[in-house]
Amino acid sequence: MKATPRLAAADAPHARAAPLLGNSPAVVRLRREIERAAQFSSNVLVTGPSGTGKELVARWLHDAGPRHSEPFIPVDCASLSGELMASQLFGHVAGAFTGANCDALGCFRAAQGGTIFLDEIGELEPPMQAKLLRVLQERTVTPVGSYRSYPVTARVVAATNRDLREEVRHSRFRGDLYFRLHVIHLETTPLARRASDIPLLAEAFLTQLAAEGLPQCRLTPQAIELLCRFAWPGNIRQLRNLLEQAVIEAEAPSLSADLLSALLGDEAAERNAAWDSAETIVDEPTALPKLAWSTLAEVERAHLLQTLEHTFFNRSAAARLLGITRQALLRKLERYQIDLPTRRD
Ligand SMILES: Nc1ncnc2c1ncn2[C@@H]1O[C@H](COP(=O)(O)OP(=O)(O)OP(=O)(O)O)[C@@H](O)[C@H]1O
Ligand SMILES: [Mg+2]
Repeated sequence: MKATPRLAAADAPHARAAPLLGNSPAVVRLRREIERAAQFSSNVLVTGPSGTGKELVARWLHDAGPRHSEPFIPVDCASLSGELMASQLFGHVAGAFTGANCDALGCFRAAQGGTIFLDEIGELEPPMQAKLLRVLQERTVTPVGSYRSYPVTARVVAATNRDLREEVRHSRFRGDLYFRLHVIHLETTPLARRASDIPLLAEAFLTQLAAEGLPQCRLTPQAIELLCRFAWPGNIRQLRNLLEQAVIEAEAPSLSADLLSALLGDEAAERNAAWDSAETIVDEPTALPKLAWSTLAEVERAHLLQTLEHTFFNRSAAARLLGITRQALLRKLERYQIDLPTRRD
């Protein structure tokens, strides 16, 4: 018997992503990058602080491209460990481990033709990083306890709020996996750096809350000003939560700055004091790089690492596979500052 992962209504095929709102240069640029990247199947890494819309970006990537009518399957890489995570991603056969009573498809195969969204990828344990790398390299997946492998046709989109380069530097995340995922890089911007979007976002959230059955409220001009001056450590999620609290607490349809200040507590006072003595927070300039494709050097470095792993770090074998001399390989290793484990040849 085959078990198919259960899909929440919002994750079912054809569910559309919520709008990605904003007119700030950062959001206009991000929307353009998403539209362009959506046409390809290359792996995507979405980075940015918590609550800035990484999952929304992943859903837009899926919806805006040719895969939109296929499944979008999110996986929280922080939620499970060991065999359970392997089973969640790759599936298992009955009897593979205690409690595996029937076959399970796994998220990679459930997402066939669509998108698998590997959320919180920075939390993946090292053994799982190795298994995932193999799947991405070979484009096949083998369920736990099985010898049979299946082709992977899902597009891989991963997200993290960690600085993965830093994680790689500290050997907490595999460099080769990082380069595999980082073919297209999309970055979300903290809300405080796109403060011009706050009035529009706030209005949209108040309309959404009213549609969900809460009272229809509006913000006073002073309340809008307060929102625009706040630093938003929890970003857009925090803004939405604050407005929901305010609508519930308010005794009139108008939401005042005093009410919002009270709900934000000491944090608001501190932020506003900091604001008074600080430079104005402005939206980012428009002239930033377009889609952050990997450079040739990054691709070459990733391929070198991959080949070395494949040959168990045997330099001569790696050079042969790459079609270059051993000397040329050693020069490249030096140039890319690739330190190898113990010498095998
Ligand atoms: N540009 C946007 N327009 C409208 N809503 C947005 C936008 N960006 C984010 N949101 C909303 O903000 C909330 C948080 O977004 P999301 O869950 O995608 O953030 P995240 O970066 O994945 O956060 P985390 O790292 O904590 O998982 C969601 O309710 C999302 O719909
Ligand atoms: Mg998220």
